[in-house]
Amino acid sequence: MTEQRSDDWAGKLRGCDAVSDAAVILAQAVGETAQAWAVAVFLLDYLQENLLPYASWPNADGSVAVPRQPLPLQTRKEQDILALSMRAGRQFSLPLSTAAPELLQFFPGLPEDRRSIAMTFPLVAMRNAPIGSVLLVVPSDAVLSRRITDVCDLAAMVIDGLVRQKKYAHLVRDLSDDVESLKTRRQREQGAAARLLMGSGAVMREIRSEISTVAGYDVPVLITGETGTGKELAATAIHAASARSEAPYVTVNCGALPAQLLESELFGHVRGAFTGAVNDHTGLLRQANGGTLLLDEVGELPLDVQVKLLRVLEDGKVRPLGGIEPYAVDVRILAATNRELQQAIDRGTFRLDLYQRLAGYELHMPPLRERIEDIPGLAAYFLTVLQRELNREDMSFSAEALHALTVASYPGNVRELLRRIRQAVIKTAPHETTIHRHLLFEGLPETKGPARVNLPQAVAALEAVLIEQCLHACAGNISQAAKSLGVPDSTLRSKLRPQQ
Ligand SMILES: Nc1ncnc2c1ncn2[C@@H]1O[C@H](COP(=O)(O)OP(=O)(O)OP(=O)(O)O)[C@@H](O)[C@H]1O
Ligand SMILES: [Mg+2]
Repeated sequence: MTEQRSDDWAGKLRGCDAVSDAAVILAQAVGETAQAWAVAVFLLDYLQENLLPYASWPNADGSVAVPRQPLPLQTRKEQDILALSMRAGRQFSLPLSTAAPELLQFFPGLPEDRRSIAMTFPLVAMRNAPIGSVLLVVPSDAVLSRRITDVCDLAAMVIDGLVRQKKYAHLVRDLSDDVESLKTRRQREQGAAARLLMGSGAVMREIRSEISTVAGYDVPVLITGETGTGKELAATAIHAASARSEAPYVTVNCGALPAQLLESELFGHVRGAFTGAVNDHTGLLRQANGGTLLLDEVGELPLDVQVKLLRVLEDGKVRPLGGIEPYAVDVRILAATNRELQQAIDRGTFRLDLYQRLAGYELHMPPLRERIEDIPGLAAYFLTVLQRELNREDMSFSAEALHALTVASYPGNVRELLRRIRQAVIKTAPHETTIHRHLLFEGLPETKGPARVNLPQAVAALEAVLIEQCLHACAGNISQAAKSLGVPDSTLRSKLRPQQ
């Protein structure tokens, strides 16, 4: 491939205004650059739990024909080279038959004699956020060009930009106003961070204020809470509201990588440190220098890695595996866990001294059952986001569905609420705009929890949504809305006044 062609890819990618177009161009660019036999491009879904196939190359008629079946991430499986590559931010290769025979489904027409080496490249957006992986099938003697990584990096930036444009459209303000003072900018960052964590109830308001406060102090924060309560989102918010917000924000899932890989990911390694270490690797701690590192699922850190991490936190120096020279680093550490660290400490699987270092401040994210007043607002917000993501419009919940949402119990917390709504939107026929109750709970065990429901809170939450829907239908006309709700104007007005 000539320079001229490579510039063409860059131009074409930058000109894309839809994620799927960028994925198609990426598949083609990688395929031609690598002279591969086949290529498939996968992107992470909104929940960051599945890889969705977006484009494949080549197809006889030039079309994109990939099965749209989501591929659940199996980060603990060492052969899952798509997930490993994405999490570790680098290339992996294995014989296609070992890598995962199921990957063959993405290349239905690939002849037997071309099922050789599977190779994966990560798609990593700015700030080291993984957004997907590219899978290539190449001849066993393929020589790979450095340009593949360049094309992947550029595509990741473009795709991430397009996704953000969609996801955060509601946050985009008047961008022409670029002469604002630093102070106003800081305030806006904090506002944006707070807006990441939805929820209008008192508990969530308190958490947002706690985040704004702790963000201002350069101390390590340990974020605890059940699964799906928003720990990762809280960490993002702390970084975004801190003085380090312009510096790198790097995250690592301590439970997602095998121990040795995790160690080299965190501390880096020098060339030749172990079999397969063909290049120097900087490591995440140094990549995060000046910024913030989130140690997600910190309770899963193997004991020997805990010891090394503690040393870094104590002396501010990182020693890459196999290296002699230590490097000074200045990184703010955030850690998140849904495990009871105290129990792990008692059992001897988590070091007390490391816990004390990490918990400079402890932020607890309460389960959804302790803030059910947030459910209607969260449900409305997710519906808006999902409609955009799934190309639907004008959808709303039936009153029965809303009631069911408010009284259901959610062992998976906010993530489960999101997942139920996503499932219901997908299952609602294309011409239908009302989401019915049974679709929200279909296929998932419906946990009825009357014992756990706080009746006044549930009633208030449902009331708030019905009023909002009615006001919307009446274009904000209070008298008309009051009439249709069957209450006097004054009652509706008093309910609309902010409660302290
Ligand atoms: N208050 C909130 N407002 C909007 N979205 C939220 C909120 N809390 C959680 N979410 C969404 O719910 C999902 C789960 O959140 P997150 O990943 O932060 O949870 P977690 O506590 O880290 O879970 P786990 O322990 O399973 O890793 C994400 O998609 C996140 O965007
Ligand atoms: Mg998490």
